[in-house]
Amino acid sequence: METLKAIQNRNSVAHLAEPAPSIEEIEEVYKGALRAPDHAWLRPWKFIEIRGDSRKKLADSFIKASIASGEEMTEELEEKLKKAPFRAPMVIVLAADIKEHPKVPKIEQIISLGASAQNILLGLHDIGYSAIWRTGKMAFNQQITDALELPNNYEVIGYLYVGTPSGKIKTLPELDLNDHLTRWE
Ligand SMILES: Cc1cc2nc3c(=O)[nH]c(=O)nc-3n(C[C@H](O)[C@H](O)[C@H](O)COP(=O)(O)O)c2cc1C
Repeated sequence: METLKAIQNRNSVAHLAEPAPSIEEIEEVYKGALRAPDHAWLRPWKFIEIRGDSRKKLADSFIKASIASGEEMTEELEEKLKKAPFRAPMVIVLAADIKEHPKVPKIEQIISLGASAQNILLGLHDIGYSAIWRTGKMAFNQQITDALELPNNYEVIGYLYVGTPSGKIKTLPELDLNDHLTRWE
C-alpha cells in the first residue's frame, strides 16, 4: 500500500475477531514502532502482547487494579472487566518506561510512546489488520502499573485491541484541513 494513502485511510475498528497477526507479522510491525521519534534516545517503549487464554490474566489485573483504586466491585463491574480483554483476539499494553532525564520530561516520553503506538496502528493497517486504541480507568494510574507487576516508574498509557474487522466498518470522517491549519504569510 502506498504510504501516504495508508496513513490517510487508517480507521479504528471496535469490533475485532480472529485472526490476529502472526508472531512474524507483528514483529515486522513492532520494528516500525521502534522508529518513533525519541528525545535523547531514552527508548521509553514497552509493549506487552497478550493473546488467547492469557487475556484472562489481563482481566484479573483489571479487577485487581479496580479494587486497589477503591472502586466498589459490583457483579456488573466484575463482569465488564472480565470481558474487556476479550473484545479482540490480541491486546497490546502500552507501557512507558519513564526515566529521569535533565532535558526530557515525562510528557515527552509518553508522547514518544504515543507516536510508537500510532506506528503500530499504521503498520497493522498496512498489512490488512485493524485495531483500536483504548484507555479508560485502566490507564494512567499506579494501581494498574502494580496490577500488571510492572516497575514503579512505568506508566500504562493505553491498550491497542488488535484483530480482523468483524461487522461494519465506519465511514472515515471528512475533515476540513482549514480548521486545523494556519499558514503564516
Ligand atoms: C489516547 C487515546 C485514548 C483513547 N481511548 C479510547 C477509549 O477508551 N475508548 C474508545 O472507544 N476510544 C478511545 N480512543 C479513540 C479511538 O482509539 C479512535 O481514535 C476513535 O474511535 C476514532 O476512530 P478513528 O481513529 O478511526 O478516527 C482513544 C484514542 C486515543 C488517542
